[in-house]
Amino acid sequence: MGDAMRGAKLSLEGISKSYSAGGVELDVLKDVYFSMVGGERIAVTGASGIGKSTLLHIVGALDRPDAGRLICDGVDVFAADDKHLAGFRNRTIGFVFQFHHLLPEFTALENVMLPRFIRGEKGEGVRKDAEAILDRVGLSRRLHHRAGELSGGEQQRVAIARAVVGRPAILLADEPTGNLDGKNSSQIHELLDELNCETGMTVVVVTHNMELAGYMDRQVTLEGGQVVERT
Ligand SMILES: Nc1ncnc2c1ncn2[C@@H]1O[C@H](COP(=O)(O)OP(=O)(O)OP(=O)(O)O)[C@@H](O)[C@H]1O
Ligand SMILES: [Mg+2]
Repeated sequence: MGDAMRGAKLSLEGISKSYSAGGVELDVLKDVYFSMVGGERIAVTGASGIGKSTLLHIVGALDRPDAGRLICDGVDVFAADDKHLAGFRNRTIGFVFQFHHLLPEFTALENVMLPRFIRGEKGEGVRKDAEAILDRVGLSRRLHHRAGELSGGEQQRVAIARAVVGRPAILLADEPTGNLDGKNSSQIHELLDELNCETGMTVVVVTHNMELAGYMDRQVTLEGGQVVERT
């Protein structure tokens, strides 16, 4: 675990979320309680369709829960209006989507620089950081490819670079190595470990890979709408 002063402390207090679609009411998260301290590395596993992405989207303030609170360093995140929520997402959270969500017409480098531009940062430093992080995910020879011209695994690696380029306090990664082969997926986990050590960022990774999950500080499973601690 890295410097616990840097990563944010996060608590879920009674989080519930239901969907209704096609006449069916689905209670995906049922009164979830869960806490993580700054700098922890947590693996989330669970069956397909159980609610892992739903949980991660709420923790990243991309979706509001139906009930419950998300407390980040003492602040009630969802008590804020949408403008402040956007600020929380941009400054505190790095998010790797399950289906990466890159801008296909923009280059790998532009996609990675974007979160820093949104923060109002610009200049040579932003480009240098983006190039350096793309180098670390093995894409130094793809900087000027459009995202749509990259392979699925390459796009996933750009998405990871984009999520970490702003050194977020909390990295939320939804199956970041789902499209990657064994070697590339180990490299990504090594990178996340290095960043966790360097910056103390809290890391929450959804994964089906039990071996990689085993290297994290904590393993939890989502079962019956609740988070169950494994270690
Ligand atoms: N916007 C939505 N509207 C209606 N139902 C939804 C919506 N989003 C998710 N669901 C349902 O909620 C359940 C949980 O979905 P979620 O994407 O969180 O699962 P998951 O654990 O991430 O699955 P996977 O491992 O396949 O990615 C699923 O049964 C899904 O059909
Ligand atoms: Mg999912």
